[in-house]
Amino acid sequence: MLTKINHIGIAVTSLEEALPFYRDTLGMAFTGIEEVAEQKVRVAMLQVGESKIELLEPLSADSPVAIFIEKHGTGIHHVAYEVADIEAAIARMMADGCRMIDETPRAGAHGTRIAFVHPKSSKGVLTELCQCNH
Ligand code: CO
Repeated sequence: MLTKINHIGIAVTSLEEALPFYRDTLGMAFTGIEEVAEQKVRVAMLQVGESKIELLEPLSADSPVAIFIEKHGTGIHHVAYEVADIEAAIARMMADGCRMIDETPRAGAHGTRIAFVHPKSSKGVLTELCQCNH
């Protein structure tokens, strides 16, 4: 069902403050910043081989990422696995009794379709299923 780790999301308070470490010190290829209004975040994408790091900066205090930082501090926010067919993946997980935050796919960054698994079903790790259209 899963084809690879597409990206790991890291919650930060400021992209401008976090980018120099990931882009310049670690030398990741920076591929741009995108605003995902629905999630109230600005997202910076960095390429590492075939996977990505997604830096997430909350745009407001009621952003899910702001609430996460409030609770846990900055750090790893979610792991995103790529799937070929997101509807089939959601259906299979729900059939296995898994609790989904998104029972239908929603729009992610870069034209992807995503669905979050509830961390209660994944031992505390917010887990994203991600279907790319490339
Ligand atoms: Co993500």
